[in-house]
Amino acid sequence: MFRTVALTGATGFIGRVLIAKLAASGWKVRALARRVPFRQDLPLVEWICGDMNCDSVLCDLVSGTEAVIHCAGAIRGKSWDDFSRTNVTGTRNILRAASGAPSCSRFLFISSLAAREPHLSWYARSKFEAEQLIPGFSGLASTVFRPAAVYGLGDKAMQPFFQAMRYGILLVPGDPGNRFGLIHVDDMVAAIHNWLEAGQPVKGTYEIDDGTSGGYDYTSIAALAEQVLSRPVHCLQIPLGGIRMLARFNLWLAHLLNYAPILTPGKVMEFQHPDWTCDISSLKRELAGWSPVTKLETVLPLLVRM
Ligand SMILES: NC(=O)c1ccc[n+]([C@@H]2O[C@H](COP(=O)([O-])OP(=O)(O)OC[C@H]3O[C@@H](n4cnc5c(N)ncnc54)[C@H](OP(=O)(O)O)[C@@H]3O)[C@@H](O)[C@H]2O)c1
Repeated sequence: MFRTVALTGATGFIGRVLIAKLAASGWKVRALARRVPFRQDLPLVEWICGDMNCDSVLCDLVSGTEAVIHCAGAIRGKSWDDFSRTNVTGTRNILRAASGAPSCSRFLFISSLAAREPHLSWYARSKFEAEQLIPGFSGLASTVFRPAAVYGLGDKAMQPFFQAMRYGILLVPGDPGNRFGLIHVDDMVAAIHNWLEAGQPVKGTYEIDDGTSGGYDYTSIAALAEQVLSRPVHCLQIPLGGIRMLARFNLWLAHLLNYAPILTPGKVMEFQHPDWTCDISSLKRELAGWSPVTKLETVLPLLVRM
């Protein structure tokens, strides 16, 4: 008899790696996708077609599952509404569906470290507000993971930073001394898988990165890149006035042409924040056997070439 889990966000950067891992480790996955058929090559995966805002689809998604991994999220948008529709209302909807499913007892919400600073951006506020919904569904053993920036092959958000290193440049959108955490997607997925297989439910909110003490700053990454690429890599700081103007223009254009922008004034505020580091010791204690193993320097040559 297979154990069954419901997954949202299965078509995204993290979700694609996660669904492959779950299927390979013998889990039956009911996966939400806005466009199906998505991937038909994975055994034990059943695709459910729909959106985070369709209650009947979400009830179908969670039916017969023992746990929900909620990994869907809006990471780009041109208004508060774009973020709140998926990240707040969508999270409320899936929590309601999960708590109404008799088989389902565990819920994992992939939030973001940005939820620590809700005033910075629409994205940060939407993740914060979504987290606040969880105590209202006390029948579920719920967990929140707040990842730092997740990187790996297939990630579009950080691709420009890695690709610029090919030309010896590390783009710096904030202060070169700003500190931040990073985690490779395989380690992120390993933590989620470990959460799912834990004998006792893990509850609470946990920040997550690769465990590098004090995180990274742009200068340390440029030095690391120089070492592994065996060529000079220089930090190129984008002037604050320039990036702010670009973000305002991008937002204006997004309204005009109706697309979801990644670079907005809110994103610039996130870049300017001096400290996105975190401490993973409590998560390591809870997830016995989990510890990040991928080092940035090991995969950097591959990411720069991608
Ligand atoms: N990547 C990071 O560095 C990072 C860091 C911290 C937190 N996170 C969080 O981790 C989660 C996954 O991130 P990611 O990098 O994998 O993002 P992604 O590549 O943009 O994927 C987002 C996923 O959410 C789905 N989705 C968005 N809106 C939806 C809606 N209204 N209904 C149903 N599905 C919807 C997307 O479906 P479509 O394929 O149909 O668009 C996609 O599967 C997000 O919640 C994000 O906030 C990511």
